[in-house]
Parts: sequence; C-alpha cells; structure tokens
Amino acid sequence: MRPPPALALAALCLLALPAAAAAAYFGLTGREVLTPFPGLDTPEAPVQGGAHLKQCDLLKLSRRQKQLCRREPGLAESLRDAVHLGLLECQFQFRLERWNCSLEGRTGLLKRGFKETAFLYAVSSAALTHTLARACSAGRMERCTCDDSPGLESRQAWQWGVCGDNLKYSTKFLSNFLGPKRASKDLRARADAHNTHVGIKAVKSGLRTTCKCHGVSGSCAVRTCWKQLSPFRETGQALKLRYDSAVKVSSATNEALGRLELWAPARPGSPPKGLAPRPGDLVYMEDSPSFCRPSKYSPGTAGRVCSREASCSSLCCGRGHDTQSRLAAFSCHCQVQWCCYVECQQCLQEELVYTCKH
Ligand SMILES: *[C@@H]1O[C@H](CO)[C@@H](O)[C@H](O)[C@H]1NC(C)=O
Repeated sequence: MRPPPALALAALCLLALPAAAAAAYFGLTGREVLTPFPGLDTPEAPVQGGAHLKQCDLLKLSRRQKQLCRREPGLAESLRDAVHLGLLECQFQFRLERWNCSLEGRTGLLKRGFKETAFLYAVSSAALTHTLARACSAGRMERCTCDDSPGLESRQAWQWGVCGDNLKYSTKFLSNFLGPKRASKDLRARADAHNTHVGIKAVKSGLRTTCKCHGVSGSCAVRTCWKQLSPFRETGQALKLRYDSAVKVSSATNEALGRLELWAPARPGSPPKGLAPRPGDLVYMEDSPSFCRPSKYSPGTAGRVCSREASCSSLCCGRGHDTQSRLAAFSCHCQVQWCCYVECQQCLQEELVYTCKH
C-alpha cells in the first residue's frame, strides 16, 4: 500500500535539512495545506529526455540545489523514491507505538524538538543516502556508477559484472547538496544537523563486503568482492533503537570557539559535568506529548488495533478497547498429493479484533 502523495510531500520537507533551512528549502512552515507531489502517481513512468528538468523545478529546492538537481539526471526520481522509503520504514518501525508516523495534515511535529522529530530527520537522511548509493549501482544516475573505492578488488569485481553500492558518491553528493555546515546559533538547527548525520552514519555502518568464490566446485580459485548496503529494514531497526535511547540535550556556549554546542547530561560512571552527545546518539530537546488524543502532532490512538495481551492497555491510554469478531480465512485439511504438492481447503474461523475506544 502506497502512502497518499500528500504524506510523501510532508516527508520531503524532512530531507535531512537544518530546521531553519528546511522552511526555506521547501517553503514549508508546517501550517500549509499540502499539495500532492507531482509524478508520485506514475512511479514507473520512464523519464524522457528533459523530463527530469521539469521534475527538479517542481521540487521546492534552493537555487543551488535546483542547479545540482538539473545537472544530475536521475536525482529527482531518487529523491522521490527516498521519501517513500523513509516514510514506509518510519511507519513500520512505529506500527506498535502511540505515534505511528502518520504525518498527513499533521506536520506540527517537524517544528518541534521531540524524539520523534529526531527519528524523522535521521530516517529521512538515511533513506536518501541509501537510495542514492543504490541508484548509482543500479545505473539510474548519469553521474555515478559502481563503487570504485581502492583496495577492494573492485576492478576485478567489475570485470565479473558485480556492481557495488556507491556510498562514497552518495555521502559526498549529500553533503554538497545540503550545503556547508554552518555554525548555527539555533539549538534546533544544531540538533537537526546532528540527527541527520546519525542517519547517514547508520547507513555507512551497514555497508558490508560481500565476496563470491569462483572456480571448480567452490575451490575459490578466484574471489570477487564488492560492497553492498544492508537492507534498509536493518538501518530502520538500528535507528529505532537509537530512538529508544535518545539523549536529551541542552545548549552550552563553547567559549573557545564562540559558538553554541549540544550538551548532554553526564552518563553514569563519567565525570559529573555534561558531555557532547556521541556521534551515534539521536538527540532531542523536548519531552513528547502522550499522542493519546488528536492534536496537531498525531491523530490520537482511537480506533487503533491492539493486542489484548500485549499492547491494548498502553496504546489505548487507559480508555479501554472495543472487541469485534470477524471471520478470517485460513488453510485447512491439507493433504500431500502425488507428486509433489500440498492441497488445502479454505476454512473460516472467528477471530477477535481489539481496537482502542474513542
Ligand atoms: C495510524 O493511526 C491512525 C489512527 O490513530 C490510523 O488512521 C492510520 O491509518 C495509522 N497509520 C498507519 C500508517 O498505520
């Protein structure tokens, strides 16, 4: 099931940008009516010559980004794919939480400093990094191709027709695309930039070297290796763990550098003064609302399906749940037939569904 286009545009404004910049890049204030993102309904439509220029114009990008986009056939499509990837992963990782990553019409969260905001920034930049690296190796971009980092027999791998995911290109492009890191006076912007890099790092640490043996019956006379990104699900899982252990930060002025720094409370066992957050930690500034009732941050949990044993009490916020029965089909009376398949009948069984009360 594909999310409605409006969702995708909401997520696009998260593309790993410092908060203050995000509004400028995409012209979003979080209050506007979201218009559908053109082209989303025809994801498989081949891009004809010049079509990507049009796609770049439709994205709300800064002038410099628009130039980069126009110079880079395949980029606009990759941006769009990345939005889908990030959004679907967010919805999967939060499917059992009170906030289930439904952004439709509720972009208020993007302007705050919640843990959920931190996750959105990280998963968006991770999706973009991942999608670009894959787009290179899949031949969907004109300006990049397979990973060709030295020291990895990748030339040899190339000869064998194995194409490595080009993470080097994608991270380099991304940092250029997002612009130089300015020392920001704004704590929110610092935190967003930090969380953006947590996302990129998560993709990087999932890069694996995969090798394959060739030769008579696995003698491995010739071995080719290439770099391969782990499935995005694993990156999403890693980021969800970071969300669970996110660190609340405040700001402190670094006297020596004369600029604002993120400051985390001391961890147990370390000196009692504050510390800079570790590069892999997601950081947030504000405690989240409960997400129980509809607000500008979430639709609330009324109507959510829950599991009576596990999640109903917390998901329904103490309001209780309704129970409905429905008929579910399942395979039954299965028999092995000669030769060689299993034949089953369809049986119906009553099943109880629990949903949170209003
Ligand atoms: C999230 O929960 C709301 C109800 O609170 C529901 O309408 C929506 O479909 C859910 N979204 C996803 C992606 O599961």
